[in-house]
Amino acid sequence: MLLSKTTNRALYGVLALLSLIGVGIVVRRTFNLIPILASGYHLPEASSSAIASKFGQVDAIFVHYPILTLIHIIPGLLFVGLGPFQFSLKIRRRNPKWHRRSGRIFMMSALVIGVTALIMSFFVPSIGGFNQAAATTMFSLFFLFALFKAFRHILQRNSLLHREWIIRAYSIGLAVTSIRLINAVFFCDQFSHWFNAQ
Ligand code: HEM
Repeated sequence: MLLSKTTNRALYGVLALLSLIGVGIVVRRTFNLIPILASGYHLPEASSSAIASKFGQVDAIFVHYPILTLIHIIPGLLFVGLGPFQFSLKIRRRNPKWHRRSGRIFMMSALVIGVTALIMSFFVPSIGGFNQAAATTMFSLFFLFALFKAFRHILQRNSLLHREWIIRAYSIGLAVTSIRLINAVFFCDQFSHWFNAQ
């Protein structure tokens, strides 16, 4: 299906925004975990801000799993960083070699993300409890399935089906990262008061 220039631009805009959110959450979590790996965990000072203390509660979960979390999120950076370029028709046409090379890195990163997401769904206490763990398990499984299908289709040189399945995998990856933005909104006390009042 051919999209108009405007629709194409709008889609790339959304893609860029979601990728930036992905980069943001990875950078924040990495800066949070590196000092813990380097010098151990020290209880942070209690904050008077409600939002800061809620972020602190989430941070307190990941400090117990720094290596697993980093193995999940560093490939996440490659995934969101390379994704938009993999979908560019211009790059694919002008430099198919680059597309294949970066595609291998993208697929490897995605595989690591999917496997670690599955492990984390079972072993890292879920912020949203059982419902969230069930959702992330389902997302991880479908993500891995979509990757497998995309890989199989490209081995069979069926680039149309490869494209369809990689779009599915990519959408799940970006959806999971953008959910952080929604979480952040619910984290704000002002918003929860507003919602409770409705
Ligand atoms: C199939 C896709 C994905 C699934 C199912 C998934 C699942 C998970 C799970 C289960 C956790 C443990 C914490 C929690 O319960 O929220 C987690 C943490 C995390 N994930 Fe993923 N993830 C996926 C993709 C990604 C991608 C593509 C990125 C990076 C852009 C990413 C970045 C993070 C970060 C930064 C954390 C640490 C918690 C935080 O700071 O928000 N994830 N993920």
